[in-house]
Amino acid sequence: MSQQVSTSPFLKPSFRRFPMVMPSPQRQRRHTLPASEFRNLTPQDAISVFEIEREAFISVSGECPLTLEEVLSFLGQCPELSLGWFEEGQLVAFIIGSGWDRERLEQEALTTHVPGTPAVHIHVLSVHRHCRQQGKGSILLWRYLQYLRCLPGLRRALLICEEFLVPFYLKAGFKEKGPSAIAVGSLNFMEMEYLLGGQAYTRRNSGC
Ligand SMILES: CC(C)(COP(=O)(O)OP(=O)(O)OC[C@H]1O[C@@H](n2cnc3c(N)ncnc32)[C@H](O)[C@@H]1OP(=O)(O)O)[C@@H](O)C(=O)NCCC(=O)NCCS
Repeated sequence: MSQQVSTSPFLKPSFRRFPMVMPSPQRQRRHTLPASEFRNLTPQDAISVFEIEREAFISVSGECPLTLEEVLSFLGQCPELSLGWFEEGQLVAFIIGSGWDRERLEQEALTTHVPGTPAVHIHVLSVHRHCRQQGKGSILLWRYLQYLRCLPGLRRALLICEEFLVPFYLKAGFKEKGPSAIAVGSLNFMEMEYLLGGQAYTRRNSGC
């Protein structure tokens, strides 16, 4: 899923005209990090994930959607339901999902992965604070939904969000399912659903 374009310029031998300079072993080992890369997350990414999450949520609501242990647990159980956006090797935005097997999200969904189900519960979408309001959240969500369409057996993506983010998810093609039964402390949520077989976003569909 990398956006990296690796160019390999074809260099004609020029040793007759120029002195031959051998690259030092150190320079030979140097790799260029991709400018922009999308990939599934692994448990090794958990610290970077949690740093972004903590900054995004703790100062605002005092609660993170996922604890570090839950991040590690979901990235261990269902890494294929996560997606990270890396710029020059640094995580700038991510989504973590897990499988869910009922029509509506319930409290138990916050900590559970049910394998092999037709629904994905998106636990968290978060963008690094330095990268917000640049379209990254929308782009990552779009790529994630396109990616989910390519996973066999998946039909729906579900999430809960606070009222102020409902327009953000409506714009991304989600529909409101009504107030969620889930409560975290004093926070209440709306439940949103995206049908993976639907027509939203098809103009940008790049195929599987
Ligand atoms: C919400 C979030 C993922 C959006 O990502 P982003 O890259 O900043 O958003 P984009 O630039 O793609 O889209 C911006 C749109 O989202 C809306 N939006 C983003 N953050 C918002 C907020 N806190 N309140 C209201 N609207 C918001 C903007 O109004 C904007 O709409 P517009 O295009 O009509 O002006 C990001 O702000 C974030 O990580 N926030 C903290 C964590 C969070 O709340 N995550 C969502 C719940 S899991």
